[in-house]
Amino acid sequence: MLVDKFGRQITYLRLAVTDRCNLRCTYCMPAEGIVYEKRKDILTYEEMLFLVECFVELGVTKLRLTGGEPFVRKDFVQFLVKLNAINGLEEINITTNGTLIAKHLDKLKSLKKINAINLSIDSLNKEKFSQITRRDSFETVFETLNLLLEKGFKTKLNVVMIPNVNTNEIKDFIELTKEKNIAVRFIEEMPFNGVGKRKEAEVWDKTKIYSEIKNNYTSIIALKSEKSSTSNNYKIENYKGIFGIIPAYTRTICGGCNRIRITAKGQFKLCLFDDGILNLRPFLRQNASKEDLKLLFYKLIDNKPKNGFEAEKQRKKTIEVSESMSTIGG
Ligand code: GTP
Ligand code: 5AD
Ligand code: SF4
Repeated sequence: MLVDKFGRQITYLRLAVTDRCNLRCTYCMPAEGIVYEKRKDILTYEEMLFLVECFVELGVTKLRLTGGEPFVRKDFVQFLVKLNAINGLEEINITTNGTLIAKHLDKLKSLKKINAINLSIDSLNKEKFSQITRRDSFETVFETLNLLLEKGFKTKLNVVMIPNVNTNEIKDFIELTKEKNIAVRFIEEMPFNGVGKRKEAEVWDKTKIYSEIKNNYTSIIALKSEKSSTSNNYKIENYKGIFGIIPAYTRTICGGCNRIRITAKGQFKLCLFDDGILNLRPFLRQNASKEDLKLLFYKLIDNKPKNGFEAEKQRKKTIEVSESMSTIGG
């Protein structure tokens, strides 16, 4: 079992299968000039499978596939079929921008371990959606949301709070939970945006997000969440769905952190805010055995920082200009 020195057991692996994306969200990437990793530097599916198997043998039960946009990578669905067959892995979840997944939903539904999809959708307004993502995909994404629900996937919406852009839509998003059995999560924006730290006139942290909600609703019910939950969850009385706030930047969720990460090029991360503990690719390409790797992870886990602030302090560099959620995987 992987247990860190604060007693947190690692059961959740986030794996980015690509750093490429077909959208260009302003909080994530610059409009142009993105330098993608070379294909040879990206882990192969075989390498990823091997790593997932190692971690499952060490007690990981939940896997999340992210990107970039995971469905941009060729043969991603075949990879899911292989992951689905790993004994001991209980849940395979996917975070997607919803532009390319629709035609695969029946296949995904047939894979028993896949039943939860997190969809990034930062606006319910077509024009604003285009402004944020720099692409015209609102209809496709919104249709995908309805399809996901029709087909019975547990669906969460990720809404990054962008000052002066979509913060006036909080109520509209919560109103979606009136009839739809979904979870809408408002996320604090983080400085991983591919352009370095930006000056924001306003910061929408969890307190501000909550007070905006409080101004609009009187019947907010606080919900109990799992200790490892990334979101503080609530619902409006008699609404079918729920909503939550993810204090991604305030980092008040670290005490229950059960997560590790692997980026598309094989960087092993013990915290979202660290700058990569070790690149696993050379080990994989020099045919390290499962036993060797498991021993390595067992040792590395001791270095998991107490929280995201410690991780940030221990970075060799400040948050780099080039660093984007598309390379980290969120
Ligand atoms: P569930 O397992 O369904 O709750 O999803 P999740 O919140 O773990 O994953 P998702 O990919 O949907 O991420 C939503 C937001 O939470 C993204 O902005 C992530 O970067 C952020 N997030 C996820 N895990 C962590 C974490 O460990 N620390 C911090 N600070 N933010 C995180
Ligand atoms: N700050 C907060 N959340 C972000 N995401 C991407 N970039 C950022 C950022 N800079 C979110 C996306 C996606 C999830 C994996 O991470 O909305 O849903
Ligand atoms: Fe875990 Fe780091 Fe996220 Fe805190 S900031 S919850 S320690 S990954």
